[in-house]
Amino acid sequence: MTAWARIAENLRLGQDVFRLRLEAPEIAAQARPGQFVMLKVRHGGDPLLARPFSIHGAENGELFILYRVVGRGTKILSMARPGKNLALWGPLGRGFDLGVANPVLVAGGMGMAPLPFTAEELVREGKRPAFLLGMLTTGGYVALVDALDKRLKNVGVAISWASEDGGLGRKGLVTALLAEALQNGAAHILACGPLPMLKAVAALAAEHGAPCQVSLEAPMACGIGVCLGCALPAAGEGYLRACQEGPVLDSARLDWARL
Ligand SMILES: Cc1cc2nc3c(=O)[nH]c(=O)nc-3n(C[C@H](O)[C@H](O)[C@H](O)COP(=O)(O)OP(=O)(O)OC[C@H]3O[C@@H](n4cnc5c(N)ncnc54)[C@H](O)[C@@H]3O)c2cc1C
Ligand code: FES
Repeated sequence: MTAWARIAENLRLGQDVFRLRLEAPEIAAQARPGQFVMLKVRHGGDPLLARPFSIHGAENGELFILYRVVGRGTKILSMARPGKNLALWGPLGRGFDLGVANPVLVAGGMGMAPLPFTAEELVREGKRPAFLLGMLTTGGYVALVDALDKRLKNVGVAISWASEDGGLGRKGLVTALLAEALQNGAAHILACGPLPMLKAVAALAAEHGAPCQVSLEAPMACGIGVCLGCALPAAGEGYLRACQEGPVLDSARLDWARL
């Protein structure tokens, strides 16, 4: 579904992280955790391509996107003011399968974007997910940490933090927290983060015989299965399109050595 959405808020939550709130009632009504939208960061042909962003939340006709400024498109987006209209299409792709027992959500860096929505929906379905979040550093991200903590506390979920500089929670990688959670009864992993983290998560899942869903990023030009720019190597042979068969995939369906 394509829509014009009015920006209700574009709030800075950290040195390079913003949360965009868009009035997009039709897309918000259909959004499921783990799905994404293709968003034109401004009207016209420059930049030509829309950018993919995970759905960070959807409620009361509004759609939330949490994004980091990494290049030209996200820089332009960070300067967009409330009241402006942006074009987007979605919700796209396959999200997380929430029909799981004892889920543990594992986020690394901006991989945190789709997981609060996922946790909220799991709670709505009567589950009590564990939520593990790893960051390089939390310095410069006080408002982001606060916003995530509050949002998850509202649904009775406490975040276990890991940071590589030791600024918040356990010093080190989030996978150390995951190894403990698996030993303590977590049964099904739902993960989103950078590729090295997802590789480590998939290896831990295989070691423990735990089912594991991973949300993967890939370069996306169309978001609707046509350009094949987002092909990911499948286990066995062939490819999976991140925008159609993914972005959330069972980790066993991927050829991690070729990723
Ligand atoms: C399904 C999906 C969901 C995403 N969800 C989010 C989200 O919720 N929040 C968020 O901040 N970002 C998300 N991304 C990444 C986001 O799309 C890119 O950061 C954005 O397109 C960069 O646009 P740009 O014009 O600012 O950067 P560009 O100028 O296009 O690129 C700047 C730098 O970022 C790198 N880059 C661009 N796109 C990607 C990508 N997809 N993966 C890895 N590196 C990339 C480029 O190689 C380059 O080094 C998602 C990507 C996908 C595929
Ligand atoms: S982004 Fe074009 S096929 Fe996936």
